[in-house]
Amino acid sequence: MKVSYAVGVASGTEALQLGLLACGVESGDEVITTPFTFIATAEAITQCGAVPVFVDIDPVTYNIDPTKIEFKITDRTKAILPVHLYGQAATMKPILELAEKYNLLVIEDCAQSLGAKYKEKKTGSIGDVGCFSFFPSKILGAYGDGGMITTNNPEIAEKVKMLRNHGCKEKYYHLIPGFNSRLDNLQATILRVKLNHIDNWTKKRKQAAELYAHYLKEVDEITLPYLGPDKSHVFNYYTIRFKNSQKNRNQLQQHLRTQGIANAIYYPVSLHLQDVYRHLKHKN
Ligand SMILES: Cc1ncc(COP(=O)(O)O)c(C=O)c1O
Repeated sequence: MKVSYAVGVASGTEALQLGLLACGVESGDEVITTPFTFIATAEAITQCGAVPVFVDIDPVTYNIDPTKIEFKITDRTKAILPVHLYGQAATMKPILELAEKYNLLVIEDCAQSLGAKYKEKKTGSIGDVGCFSFFPSKILGAYGDGGMITTNNPEIAEKVKMLRNHGCKEKYYHLIPGFNSRLDNLQATILRVKLNHIDNWTKKRKQAAELYAHYLKEVDEITLPYLGPDKSHVFNYYTIRFKNSQKNRNQLQQHLRTQGIANAIYYPVSLHLQDVYRHLKHKN
């Protein structure tokens, strides 16, 4: 994917946390992100002692709405953390422009977007840091947990290598407080084998998505995934949206379950409304 450094870590969540720490995010800082994502995105910010500042999504792409970011930038903002949700890149150009204007770092949550492109660049090579997950349900899934950080910045790569291994460069000489967050050898072995198949599997998922689009396009009650210009979608998840009725959604879920077809609501409660963030006092 044309980045200089890729550092394996123990999970996607830790890729985010170590990535943020390596970028210097610390207590009192604010990090702008989307509330419509898996909890790990915001949790990693909180675990650095920083505050997640939620910016609403574009209801068409489900990704962070770049036109709403600037209003939320303050003196304490350190970074913007877009998520490439479901496998389609967030609209990165205006995000990068804002980052440059306000001297902010851009950390991409690529947990669902391995292989997806924004213009000619693959996600994970666009901002300062890319954070990947190898959780089994992901595009490149291990048999357990795993994650990776990508960057072109040698200092960030070096810092992540230290953070993942108890803060040392040399064994038993500890320079900074770190973690045990190495990518497990057995998982790495499995990932190396599966990596060879990723392009083919992604091609097949895209073909399946085309079939869904073909057969579902006349179903009025649902909105199909939007395919934006300048973006490729790798369909980690094929997500449809019910326009009006939760009842229909629940009925379809039930029906799919009886047919043995896996499905889930991604996501039932946005992060700004989760109990853990009640103190931020967000409204519905
Ligand atoms: C958007 C997003 N970010 C972060 C993560 C965290 O990854 P992991 O489960 O590997 O810790 C996930 C996956 O669960 C995810 O979907």
